[in-house]
Formats: sequence, C-alpha cells, structure tokens
Amino acid sequence: MDLRSFIDLLWSHGRLKRIEPEVDWRFEIGRITREHREPLLFENVRGYPGSRVFTNGLSSPELIALSLGLGSQQGMKEIINAAKNRLQKPLSPVIVDSGPILQNIVRADDIDFLELPVPQWSPRDAGRYLGTWHVNVTKDPETGTRNVGVYRMQVLGPKHATVSTSPTSDLGRHVAKAEKTGRALPMAVAIGVSEAVMIAASAACPYGYDEYQFAGGLETKPLQLLKCETVDLEIPADTEIAIEGFIQPGERVQDGPYLDYAGKANTNPKAFLFEATRMMFRDNPIFRGSSIGLPGAEDHQVFSLLAHLKLVDFHGRRSRQFVQNPLLRKRLFRPFQLAGRLGGFHPRHWGPNSAR
Ligand SMILES: Cc1cc2nc3c(=O)[nH]c(=O)nc-3n(C[C@H](O)[C@H](O)[C@H](O)COP(=O)(O)O)c2cc1C
Repeated sequence: MDLRSFIDLLWSHGRLKRIEPEVDWRFEIGRITREHREPLLFENVRGYPGSRVFTNGLSSPELIALSLGLGSQQGMKEIINAAKNRLQKPLSPVIVDSGPILQNIVRADDIDFLELPVPQWSPRDAGRYLGTWHVNVTKDPETGTRNVGVYRMQVLGPKHATVSTSPTSDLGRHVAKAEKTGRALPMAVAIGVSEAVMIAASAACPYGYDEYQFAGGLETKPLQLLKCETVDLEIPADTEIAIEGFIQPGERVQDGPYLDYAGKANTNPKAFLFEATRMMFRDNPIFRGSSIGLPGAEDHQVFSLLAHLKLVDFHGRRSRQFVQNPLLRKRLFRPFQLAGRLGGFHPRHWGPNSAR
C-alpha cells in the first residue's frame, strides 16, 4: 500500500482530516499537527500552489493497524502478534524498471529542496526539516549490505542538508568505513514511502540486515525497488519524492536545535553533510513529514510497537534504554520522554556523544 493508497483508505474510513484553508510552512503546519491526533492532509501551503503535506498517519494503534492492512478494530495485542509473525517471514524486494517516481526528474544543477513545501515544524527548530518521516538508504562500503534507517535532515542550502545520527548507528558505521578511504558515501533519501517501510526503517535490526526485507514481510508482499541513477542504491518505486546524493567525507556541520522525541531541543554539532545529485518526484507529490516532541506522537506509537518486537535502540546509555523500553511497551509516553532526558543535561541520543 503506497502512501497515496493509505491516504485514500483513511479517507474511506472517515479517518482523514483535509485542511483546505491556506497554511504557512513556517510553524503553522507543525502546530496544527501537534494539536491533532489524527491524520492530516494540508492541501494549500502558502507559496506552494498544488503541493500537499501529510502528517500524523500513524498517530494511534488503530492507524498502525490500517497501515498494515489489518482491521481498524484490532487492539494493540493483535497488532503486536501480526507484526511478530510478519517479522518471521521477511520478503526480499524485487527490482523493477519503472515506477511513478520517475514522473519528474531534476538534475543536480537544478535541485532546490525548498521547491518542496518543507515545513519549519516548531519555533524550537533551527530551520526547515526535509527529513522527519522519511528513509535514508546506504550500503556498507566494504560488504555492500544495505541499511534503511530514519535520520533527521535539516535543509542547509538548495542541495545541501544535514544528516544527524550517532557514530554507533548503522549509518554512522557506513560513513566511518567510507571515510577510512577518503570516499564520499552514496545515500538515497525517500520521502513519502509506505508506512510499513517507515516502521521497518525505524527498527533497530541487526547490523547487515536489510530493512527492506522486513518491510516486505510487514506488507506481506515484496517491495518493488527502482535503481537510482547517480548512486548504486535502490528506492521504493512508488515513493512520493526521492533524492540521490553523497555524504561528504570529513565534513561535519551543526544540526538543530530540533525538538526531538524526548520533547527537548537537541543540537548535534557533528552531523554529516549531504549533497544531492538528483531528485525525483511523482506528479503532484505528497510531502510526508511529522512534528514530534509531544508524548504519544506518531514516533512514539511506532517505537511502542517496536519495543514489543525488541527492535528499539536510541544509541544512548544502556541504563537509559533499560528504563525506556518497558515504558514504551506500557505506552507510558510522558515518563518515557522524561527518561530520555535523564543522564546528563544535554543527552545527545543520536548525537556524537552517545555512549553505549
Ligand atoms: C520519526 C523518527 C525519527 C528518527 N530520527 C532519528 C535521527 O535523527 N537520528 C537517528 O540516529 N535515529 C533516528 N531515529 C531512529 C532510527 O531510525 C532507528 O534507531 C533505526 O533503528 C536506525 O538505527 P540503526 O542505525 O541502528 O539501524 C528516528 C526514528 C523515527 C521513527
């Protein structure tokens, strides 16, 4: 179920709120997103005629059930059982020659991220965040194994953005290996993927395990992937927006402050620097993003499910994780956030100071 089909499904179940009046990408989309606990489709973004922004797609267990093709009446227990079963049945993706993502192609010189309706989600964010509910795809430069994860991205220029993560994340390890030989690391970014891909990418799967397989299992059918042109990577053929490029070796930039999952403005002074080499998007693309920071927001809903599958890793201290995981399973989101802030005045989970 690609993102558009999911949005149609939500509409047919009376679960989609369409926001037709004009909204501002600066703060307003984020504020409305945080004020609602239902899927929102913004249809009129100031300065972006024809563009749409979708948020809050997974902001309750019922919505997660719908995204996985389960009935909306399924309780958390049934969702957990279904996800556990599907985790045991991963499906390898297949490569296809074409897909709707090829409808519009932008060459490197013409790329401008801000031609997309990228919101500044919160007054506590330093800028506009391109990557808040997206996936980053990279390969281990030595072994070629693929990683699909979610690592936030702040716009720095027309084709430059941060990528914020910890050195111990799978992406951090890929960058370290590339930098050993002074090479840039190819990376593809897909915005507006199916929610199953997003759930799989948020999961802390063992290093070397391909999250696209987990996503196929969750969707109960293999993902259809398209090969990128300027990098040796693959993206879902039905994603709304895709960006190819490289993480520059030896470069570090400041990301944030950004209102993070713990409800705290988090700065990473050593984020990676991404430079885009090609961009693609579907006709009338739907920009998918999220405004996190409040207890029970959609990132917490996903983490809660993943905690039951033992697939959460914040790359922070083990002791903190030990406290956080049961709170997630019990859906005690406020204490979960407070635990996320413990252990230092500026806990930089997903930042360079994370310590296992
Ligand atoms: C909405 C959302 C935002 C996330 N943002 C980040 C981030 O900025 N940096 C990060 O390292 N992990 C982030 N994560 C968590 C990772 O996606 C998650 O840890 C995943 O397992 C990748 O970890 P890995 O590198 O260990 O495979 C985010 C997850 C979600 C759901």
